Amino acid sequence: MANEKQYRYRTVFVATRGVKEYRASINQYINRHDIVLEIGCEWGTTSELIYPKCKQLIATDISSECILRAKQMRSEIHFETLDVYDLKSALSFGLGFTKMYIDVSGLSGYRSLLDVIALLNTSAAAFPIQAIVVKSGALKDFAKKCVAWDG
Ligand SMILES: C[S@@+](CC[C@H](N)C(=O)[O-])C[C@H]1O[C@@H](n2cnc3c(N)ncnc32)[C@H](O)[C@@H]1O
Repeated sequence: MANEKQYRYRTVFVATRGVKEYRASINQYINRHDIVLEIGCEWGTTSELIYPKCKQLIATDISSECILRAKQMRSEIHFETLDVYDLKSALSFGLGFTKMYIDVSGLSGYRSLLDVIALLNTSAAAFPIQAIVVKSGALKDFAKKCVAWDG
């Protein structure tokens, strides 16, 4: 039964629809103290916007081709290959990530809502994350329909 010993994270989950909203959130959610893990960086277009605003950024993608190109295009940024579901490797970076940006193909669609929620839950439990921004129209619609009962 749930009790006061039950783990409760303090992470805020931010659902954005489309890359424009995803990138627009950077000004609000990233500050110069943040250690950021970006997942699904492709060749670093969003990484380039996050990088100057934070203390440290690791930008990652499952595709080694993307990461190779990202490193060639933006040598000042730290890029790594990472699968969004490989939490063990994310932990092996040895950093206390405070913000996470997730834009992974396959997770943005309407059939992926449960996968996105599960991913947010496990990521928030593993790191001292203040906010996770995810590109997911499905989560945004779902969040709009949720009401936290305060009666
Ligand atoms: C829409 S693109 C990302 C665009 C990028 N965020 C930007 O703002 O320019 C989606 C990326 O997700 C990556 N991806 C797909 N499956 C992944 C996974 N399981 N883990 C990490 N990245 C993944 C793809 O390789 C692709 O580069």
